[in-house]
Amino acid sequence: MGITPTDQQLLSKIATNDGHAENSPYFDGWKAYDSDPFHPTKNPNGVIQMGLAENQLCFDLIEEWIRKHPDASICSTEGVHNFRNIANFQDYHGLPEFRNAVAKFMERARGGNATFDPEKIVMSGGATGAAETISFCLADPGDAFLIPTPYYPGFDRDLRWRTGTQLVPVACDSSNNFKITIPALTAAYDKAVKANIRIKGLLINNPSNPLGTVLDRDTLRSLLRFTNEKNIHLVCDEIYAASVFGQPNFVSIAELVEEEKWCNRDLIHILYSLSKDLGLPGFRVGILYSYNEYVVSCARKMSSFGLVSTQTQHLIAKMLSDDDFVKSFLAESKKRLARRHRIMRMGMAQVGIGSLRSNAGLFIWMDLRRLLKERSFDGEMELWHLIINDVKLNVSPGSAFHCSEPGWFRVCLSNMDDRTMEVALRRIGKFVRKSTKVEEDEMKNRRWQNNLRLSFSSRRFEEICTTPCLMSPHSPVPHSPLVRAMT
Ligand SMILES: Cc1ncc(COP(=O)(O)O)c(C=O)c1O
Repeated sequence: MGITPTDQQLLSKIATNDGHAENSPYFDGWKAYDSDPFHPTKNPNGVIQMGLAENQLCFDLIEEWIRKHPDASICSTEGVHNFRNIANFQDYHGLPEFRNAVAKFMERARGGNATFDPEKIVMSGGATGAAETISFCLADPGDAFLIPTPYYPGFDRDLRWRTGTQLVPVACDSSNNFKITIPALTAAYDKAVKANIRIKGLLINNPSNPLGTVLDRDTLRSLLRFTNEKNIHLVCDEIYAASVFGQPNFVSIAELVEEEKWCNRDLIHILYSLSKDLGLPGFRVGILYSYNEYVVSCARKMSSFGLVSTQTQHLIAKMLSDDDFVKSFLAESKKRLARRHRIMRMGMAQVGIGSLRSNAGLFIWMDLRRLLKERSFDGEMELWHLIINDVKLNVSPGSAFHCSEPGWFRVCLSNMDDRTMEVALRRIGKFVRKSTKVEEDEMKNRRWQNNLRLSFSSRRFEEICTTPCLMSPHSPVPHSPLVRAMT
């Protein structure tokens, strides 16, 4: 007879607890997609996957490079002479050419504003592995990291599950566009200390998943100062460093470390991977970059559990050593992300959906607060069920990101082709029109009472959607002056 997952006696606590955090709408949405995936001809009414932060916009560029460089693979006639060396290599420091190329790429991904030392680079199985490794290196079971909300749901699994450490949320909200403030940090820190929780560090994700925003230099500096004063670590997940496609520019913690001579470098650690900026999550190339030599040494030993295969290292080393390719890839990737972001955001705005102003990452933080029947997380779940079951879009509710206020949803924009995006936008439009019908009628009445003559043509509908009543303050479309004057 097989062991049931709930058989606590036979299995470990880790095996039987739900620390993987799979039990969340974030993953439920993926399951809904898996059971009924959209296909333009075979399943046009299926669920469209908008809950996966994949970057598929530049695959063609990478494919082209691979075609032009068959010697970069050990599985080609041109490259097989390297086969024995690569197949045998086992040093967990990684291939020197791989670390050199990745260090250089990390510099380029940050616009050349910071330098990276290949000796401080530790490999891991994606940023997922890097996050767990740093948690193992810095904290004991029961210790905690502060983390601003909303945050990437995978952190619950990566930092906590196998290590036994905790995450203490620092609540941020829309009143200041989800900015991290020192009073909020201090309050969370003090509360944890009062509860006898030892805070070992602050984890930030810059640019942010799910917000798509970057931290400004002053805020980043204030976080550096805060962690230095408290003598706790600052862990910066910069997995979207090169996926910044508009102003303001991205400021890496690596820049500040070089600028701010007063800071204690031993407390600074960067998580990175090629999953987003190069769009290669399947390659599992993760990086832990630490300024602390003890952490580097320990993490390197731990990396035996999550090495990147030498075949992948070999290919990546060749690709990232091609300066011209890297330069044009990064420029083109930004361009394509910017275009997608613009179309998606404007498409949503045309039907009255606002979103947080953003310039980075692979998503939009959509504001559906006005569509909530009830301003609560139950109301958010009700709306989410409607979106996934009726509209057939897998978007992720804010609660999955530990957002402190209901009504925000993350929409991924780079994991589908243009036509699928158009279908998704049409579905969103139809849904919003239906949902706002009641408010529309109410407005009609109000206008009628005010004795204002309005013709409710379909063209005018967009203006109706942009009235302050329906429109989010985060909308990129200015409110129509005509409508404003009339209400
Ligand atoms: C902020 C953040 N960190 C880490 C990860 C995990 O990345 P990887 O595929 O490299 O493990 C993701 C993936 O979505 C992410 O968004």
